[in-house]
Amino acid sequence: MASVTSLTASVHQRLASALSAALPGTADADPLLRRSDRADYQANGILALAKKAKANPRELAAQVVERVESGDVIKEIEVSGPGFLNVTVTDRAILENLAARATDPAERLGVPHADDAGTTVIDYAQPNVAKEMHVGHLRSAVIGDAMVQILEFTGETVVRRHHIGDWGTQFGMLIQYVDEHPETLDHELGTDEVSGEQAMSNLNRLYKASRQLFDSDEEFKTRARRRVVDLQAGDPATLAVWQRFVDESKIYFYSVFDKLDMKIDDPDIVGESGYNDMLEETCRLLEESGVAVRSEGALCVFFDDVKGPDGNPVPLIVRKSDGGYGYAATDLSAIRDRVFNLKATSLLYVVDARQALHFRMVFETARRAGWLGDDVTAHQLAFGTVLGKDGKPFKTREGETVRLIDLLDEAIERATAVVREKDTQQRLSETEIVERGTQVGIGAVKYADLSTSANRDYKFDLDQMVSLNGDTSVYLQYAYARIQSILRKAGETRPVPHPELELADAERALGLHADQFAETVAESAKEYAPHKLAAYLYQLASLYTTFYDKCPVLKAETPAQVENRLFLGDVTARTLHQGMALLGIRTPERL
Ligand code: ARG
Repeated sequence: MASVTSLTASVHQRLASALSAALPGTADADPLLRRSDRADYQANGILALAKKAKANPRELAAQVVERVESGDVIKEIEVSGPGFLNVTVTDRAILENLAARATDPAERLGVPHADDAGTTVIDYAQPNVAKEMHVGHLRSAVIGDAMVQILEFTGETVVRRHHIGDWGTQFGMLIQYVDEHPETLDHELGTDEVSGEQAMSNLNRLYKASRQLFDSDEEFKTRARRRVVDLQAGDPATLAVWQRFVDESKIYFYSVFDKLDMKIDDPDIVGESGYNDMLEETCRLLEESGVAVRSEGALCVFFDDVKGPDGNPVPLIVRKSDGGYGYAATDLSAIRDRVFNLKATSLLYVVDARQALHFRMVFETARRAGWLGDDVTAHQLAFGTVLGKDGKPFKTREGETVRLIDLLDEAIERATAVVREKDTQQRLSETEIVERGTQVGIGAVKYADLSTSANRDYKFDLDQMVSLNGDTSVYLQYAYARIQSILRKAGETRPVPHPELELADAERALGLHADQFAETVAESAKEYAPHKLAAYLYQLASLYTTFYDKCPVLKAETPAQVENRLFLGDVTARTLHQGMALLGIRTPERL
């Protein structure tokens, strides 16, 4: 079905046409319509437009009032202050609009699906082989997954790329060690089915043992370095062992992603090694076009505005003086692949803010080389650091980085306790408590991450995250479950909109906010800002709570009012459910 124009959009449209009629010659004059406390909406754009047209703002506002077509939509419109407009809409318009959204069979709730949208290649959830995943990897996975859902929902074609760290000199050491200790091949890298946890502890053991040897035995060090050369040269035996490391690591990654309730598909894992075949050509093209130059044996790209503390330029090193390729060569090759083979129109990188300079230089280099044209956008969705309660980067008491899996387990444990405690009448079975606890715990971690704007640091505070009051996922999940419980209690009485009814203030506020779902999704997609969707949903749940306190549902005065209030609850619940799903968070039917 066609998308439903929101009420906001139709009020906007009416004001805009009245404005162009009042100010001939100004096409698409924007009335800057915003939700407001004084009326339903306030239009703030008239002042600036009047100034530009050298007109009196209050007079212009009055002319808009005179010309606007109210239809069944606008109930009241008045000039206020120096030239604002206060607009109140009819109760009928609110209900009819929600009713139209609610009949959408695909549960899109009026959100348009663009058929001619672009292709975004999104780089997210990129842990490193043979290394433990830590809290930093949480953000990329959670924010990236939300962006995938949001973009796909708007119609964008999304190609996922998990740019895992699966290449580099450390593999020389690891492979050499395994080669010299063949028994580890069966033990630590055995083909038997192992759990993610076991896989990681196997890898940790190998890493520690080989590192120790590497640091203490000069001859081993030399042999390990030679191994790197073999690996790069594509020696089959060396590659085979390398592959075992990658496979063992994937078992571990999948177990973590699984716990995160996140679907990652194997073909989308294209790690650094996936671009090996392109590196040489990437360098050649950069050198031939003069974008990169040789400097002290290395192949470098220079930027006027990138300088070190000593004032000397800091180049992007594409190939080191020893001939080795670095992180930049891989990322530049990946851009070529994503633009020319995957036909991306947008490149999105969900990566730690501390890599901002790297991406700035990589994007600029790709622009100079002509790989990124005007028709392709490249953006780093940079995220801040996860802090401990003390406001410092999150560490264990022993000063080590915190394992992601431990955090998730703790969150699930806490949430399960909350669910158990809340179930005072013991209606849930033990299995249900565990299942809900997991959904609440993982939801809590994701929501805390998604509800602050990505570029800010945030404190990882489990007490706060699983709190029933405040801006938490549990609060949203409870709002959803409460509505479901009311709908169940209503039995045969079904939610039905009654546009003829007069609405109470709390009903209007809820309805007007529900109306903004499509705009919010569009804005979150366009600005790569899942936190805007989170804030919207929190507000929706809060407005529902107020509505629930003020307006009896099943005990409302008339049968029509009961149905209508059930309807408002139903639309709210469906919006919460769909919105939370876009954030990767479950909404259990009962809590
Ligand atoms: N593996 C890297 C890390 O753990 C992140 C990779 C980011 N993506 C990229 N295309 N460079 O920090």
